[in-house]
Amino acid sequence: MMQIIKNKNEISRIVGKLKKEGKKIGLVPTMGALHEGHLSLIKRCKEECDITIISIFVNPVQFGPNEDFARYPRDFERDREMASQEEVDIIFYPEPGEMYGDRHLTYVNVEKMEKIMCGKFRPGHFKGVCTVVLKLFNIIIPDNAYFGMKDFQQLAILKKMVSDLDINIQIVGCETVREPDGLALSSRNAYLNQEERKNANILFQAINLAESEVRQGRSVKTARISAVKMLKECSFVKKIDYFDIRDPVELKALKNPGKQNMKILIASAIWFGKTRLIDNKVVEMSQNQS
Ligand code: PAJ
Repeated sequence: MMQIIKNKNEISRIVGKLKKEGKKIGLVPTMGALHEGHLSLIKRCKEECDITIISIFVNPVQFGPNEDFARYPRDFERDREMASQEEVDIIFYPEPGEMYGDRHLTYVNVEKMEKIMCGKFRPGHFKGVCTVVLKLFNIIIPDNAYFGMKDFQQLAILKKMVSDLDINIQIVGCETVREPDGLALSSRNAYLNQEERKNANILFQAINLAESEVRQGRSVKTARISAVKMLKECSFVKKIDYFDIRDPVELKALKNPGKQNMKILIASAIWFGKTRLIDNKVVEMSQNQS
């Protein structure tokens, strides 16, 4: 039977007991509005751990004042049903007041990496993400925690946080799940109207275009210009926050990819109508494609 726990002391106690029994604990942090992307993380967690815990918490601290916190999709009954189908063991479903006291003053900041890409356009966002994830880690103390590559910067920052702060939890990155037309699954896709939805895979197409140019030996600059041109030609694209080609570990800007077996990250965020879409791809340059 799947348990739903709202209280942090209670979940700490339950997990502590399971650990004493020698169980390996996996955590999948989410903000709910579950879709196949989330379910792929849950499936991976179930493969690798004895106990699968998901958290559902729309974390106010990671939303900016003009962002979509209030209208972020919430449907606990549906999430509960989906989690139960996947045979999740425990849902941690705290109220905001359970996670943040009246006078919360402590935040975790991964410097430099939180200022670029999405961080440049969403000041304080990654500080909010790191703070809530570290709180979840401290409450649950899982062995493994599962995150999607869809939010690649988030994954890279959390890996850095865990390494810098000597947190003994394995961060597992999972492949992006996509719609048949290439659009990455996201809870925010629900904001798209029919016409927007039909055209939204332009983001993945632009990333693929940049990939093919880099593979053909063109410079990062040229690849970027082609991809941006493709995005600008789509009338639904209202703004390009960034289209970046970087190293996939510390997210440093790359000037000269194409060395043998080098991995590069191609990542972008665009405004599609009133919806912000992000996507990325990590490309391994092979020997023939120098
Ligand atoms: P949320 O957007 O709900 O995503 C929860 C997890 O699902 C994240 O690790 C995200 O990368 C992953 N995910 C989302 N779409 C995916 C897709 N199409 N394929 C694979 N994985 C996908 O990310 C957050 O919540 C929050 O920032 C959180 C980490 C929970 C902290 O509040």
